[in-house]
Amino acid sequence: MNELSDHAPGPPPTFEQAKNRRQKARAAGLDPNHWYAVERSSSLRKGDRIEASFLGRKMAVFRGHDGIVRGLENRCAHRHLKLTEGAVEGCRLVCPYHGWAYDGDGKAHIPHDLFGHREPNIRIATVPVKERYGLVFVFPGDPELATVRDIPSIPELEGPRPWPHAIVLFDCVGHHSMLLENVSDFTHGFLHRKFKPFEGTEVLRCEEVGDRVEIEYKSKIAAGRLQNLFIDRSASDCDHMLACFDYPYHWSNTDDRIKHFLFTLPQDDSHNRHIFIFYVRPDIIRLPFLGAKLPYRLVSAMMKAQRYMTLQPLLGQDVWVLRHEQEGWEHHWDRPAPELSPVVRAFQDLTIRKWEEYLANRKPARREHLVAAGELTR
Ligand code: FES
Ligand SMILES: [Fe+2]
Repeated sequence: MNELSDHAPGPPPTFEQAKNRRQKARAAGLDPNHWYAVERSSSLRKGDRIEASFLGRKMAVFRGHDGIVRGLENRCAHRHLKLTEGAVEGCRLVCPYHGWAYDGDGKAHIPHDLFGHREPNIRIATVPVKERYGLVFVFPGDPELATVRDIPSIPELEGPRPWPHAIVLFDCVGHHSMLLENVSDFTHGFLHRKFKPFEGTEVLRCEEVGDRVEIEYKSKIAAGRLQNLFIDRSASDCDHMLACFDYPYHWSNTDDRIKHFLFTLPQDDSHNRHIFIFYVRPDIIRLPFLGAKLPYRLVSAMMKAQRYMTLQPLLGQDVWVLRHEQEGWEHHWDRPAPELSPVVRAFQDLTIRKWEEYLANRKPARREHLVAAGELTR
């Protein structure tokens, strides 16, 4: 009998306690040994500093007055204040309390009386940082691996005439697995019935290939009234999409004309920063009714405008709904959640497998070092 009752199952299970696929996926982390986008380059000007979090690891990211971005553990070695409470001076990040100043290599320079001591060689952990595609990336894991793993290549965004693109950044409540499932699971078209980013949900193929899940969709992309007006479908219907959970990233390619890349930054168990780059082939945009192609600069300006007119309001619906999914998860994690989509199941399987691999292979010495440095909370 279905009877309404009080329901208080306690906190959701840990990864070790989890009993089924969904519970495991919701308790899994993301492997820190990849590059993660944390901010737009344009939002980190000379002299700026921000704190970036990766599953509880706190990092200070700052741009020196030489224009170079550097990353450090966000902790003064003296009394453990957050360095981001201080300020950038030249190419150093300076703690606000006694003024210890940190180079990009983590070395502390002490400005006050040393009371007869030689200046001690004190260092904090450094965090590899790179800039590409207008974004700042950090490598929160083992720095040695930062030299052998790279930021994913997006050739369409390189060179003197990159594809017109729009960056959409938002902070979102919800476990990271929820959004990654959301972006590839087209069964939620109902939520977006006003914007119609896709129409039709036929899955032609869904399979795990190495460390990625590949999905081929038959679905009309950018089917909303406004977007449909501007998209030239004469050479291609833009109704065949390859979408990939390319661990830990997500990207899609619709008929080599409309593409996106998603960088997810899991800040903790229930908060994420998501950075989308949407990009289109310049010749896909036309003048409504007349059909004339538009100049490159105009298409670029239109993509920037799309950010405000369509992309942010559309993704705002996902942000809103994921907050409620997280709430539902926290209250009802022990109840069945019938999952019909093979895409969601495949995403969860990959998330779980990669987290198990990370847990099995992480270097104990590095982990102890990080725990000692207060860098890890998990
Ligand atoms: S606490 Fe940072 S300089 Fe003293
Ligand atoms: Fe969505």
